[in-house]
Amino acid sequence: MYSEKVMDHFSNPRNVGEIENPSGVGTVGNAKCGDIMRMYLDIDDNGVIREAKFKTFGCGAAVATSSMATELVKGKTVQEALQVTNKAVMEALDGLPPLKVHCSLLAEEAIHAALWDYAKKNGIVIEGLKEPVDDIEELEEE
Ligand code: FES
Repeated sequence: MYSEKVMDHFSNPRNVGEIENPSGVGTVGNAKCGDIMRMYLDIDDNGVIREAKFKTFGCGAAVATSSMATELVKGKTVQEALQVTNKAVMEALDGLPPLKVHCSLLAEEAIHAALWDYAKKNGIVIEGLKEPVDDIEELEEE
């Protein structure tokens, strides 16, 4: 039921860990399943994401989507990273079972939370970035 790519990123997740003194860090959870994802970003002076790391306390699909999300945002500008939506992450993983789509929302929102933190620390506004939620259940209900 899972694609090979999902299994690969679940079994060998990329970019697991923390970044010391990150440019931005964000944590989001899903109260329904209890899963939590924390995303760390290192962003250079030109607004390019040099490094992305994550820690996910959650299901396999959440691990795989965090892994793929960090791979996708690396090397991108802050603006480009906003295009890394949960759909983009799912596509890069060759899809997720319908019941697991919400897990990819956690990845998108964790990126947004880290970018929000970066913007706040630097006193800048990232166009198109909305204030992230702590619990993605709020998004699912929208
Ligand atoms: Fe909660 Fe996957 S079941 S994120």
